[in-house]
Amino acid sequence: MIDLSFLDNKIILITGHTGFKGRWLVRLLDKLCNAKLMGVAPKDIFFQESRVFFENIDIDEIFFDISDFKKVDDLIRKVSPDVIIHLGAQSLVNDAITNPLKTFSSNILGTANILSASGSLDKKIMFLNITSDKVYKNSENLDPFTESSELGGLDPYSCSKSCAELISHSFFDTYVNKLKLSKLSIANLRAGNVIGGGDFGLNRIIPDIHRTIKLGEKLQLRMPYAIRPWQHVLDCLSGYLHALNYIASFEECVSIDFNVGPQNFEKVTVLDICEHAKKWFPMLIYELNSAVVAESEFLLLDSKLLSETTGWSPLYNTHEAIDQTFKWYHSFENGHDASALINKEVTDYLTNNRSFKKAVTI
Ligand SMILES: NC(=O)c1ccc[n+]([C@@H]2O[C@H](COP(=O)([O-])OP(=O)(O)OC[C@H]3O[C@@H](n4cnc5c(N)ncnc54)[C@H](O)[C@@H]3O)[C@@H](O)[C@H]2O)c1
Repeated sequence: MIDLSFLDNKIILITGHTGFKGRWLVRLLDKLCNAKLMGVAPKDIFFQESRVFFENIDIDEIFFDISDFKKVDDLIRKVSPDVIIHLGAQSLVNDAITNPLKTFSSNILGTANILSASGSLDKKIMFLNITSDKVYKNSENLDPFTESSELGGLDPYSCSKSCAELISHSFFDTYVNKLKLSKLSIANLRAGNVIGGGDFGLNRIIPDIHRTIKLGEKLQLRMPYAIRPWQHVLDCLSGYLHALNYIASFEECVSIDFNVGPQNFEKVTVLDICEHAKKWFPMLIYELNSAVVAESEFLLLDSKLLSETTGWSPLYNTHEAIDQTFKWYHSFENGHDASALINKEVTDYLTNNRSFKKAVTI
């Protein structure tokens, strides 16, 4: 069980707070500690979508692209954060294939900018570098990746996330470890495929299912047999917060890598997810689309290190996570308010999951 009250009165800067994970993270932190929350993201498609999720939440927001170093540096100097949770990224594999330079700029340069600006402040900052299971070189053999597996994502998105990790390792080794010029304490967190309500992103299987049902269309299933480490967003975020608690327990600056994924190695395919969706949405129609895609077919993640080191364990297994997710979209389609649904789900999660010592506002 962890106690996040050490975050009370601290300043937490969240990049990409308007995205899928950010919407849930802000709500979770709002209930778990009395920190001052600050978010930074551009006024892009996520901005409008996210407005409803921040109702009754005390968060300061600022809107710009983190690939602009001057803006990042000015913000970090002004805010002087104690914790940075770096979610902000172009996160879609297909968009990265269409527009690799935008993805490299946001994900590689953006990460370098945040590290460089925060690393030059004369204070200890805990930095969660949110990357992906796609950082690993994938030999498609179904062996789960461990933290010591070789890095080397091939498609542009995966490559950008591998680079974000290499840059973080380089900053720590050079400026913290050797030159002692910086006081960053870093966790590089490699999550699997995260699912949950409130995600309306394109080319992600669950939002795609939701969208086609709404529009009464037929879903084109690309990569139906792809296996992914599916995980509920709250279990993933709980993993991030356990990692944060862990690095906070050290007096000195540390750098550590953790996988964050489901604890079992259930081989659940995209097609299995569609079949499950029919329980909640029997009207779903899909067809298999065999178009060539530049993504890995198999991906499994070993998250034992995070569990054994920090005491983290997910509340949901993969099937429960999928069910919980479709239940959210089902309630949403039946007229429930998105923000209220997230609020209730976070409250229920904290009540049922005994990992957190105290929640301040539930
Ligand atoms: N969702 C998943 O399944 C998954 C899995 C593994 C890793 N990740 C990683 O987790 C993080 C969050 O994922 P998500 O699902 O919330 O993504 P998302 O696409 O829903 O949200 C991305 C957020 O980043 C912001 N952003 C994009 N480009 C930016 C830029 N140049 N400057 C500042 N902000 C920018 C967006 O505005 C948005 O707020 C990302 O780094 C993603 O790569 C996601």
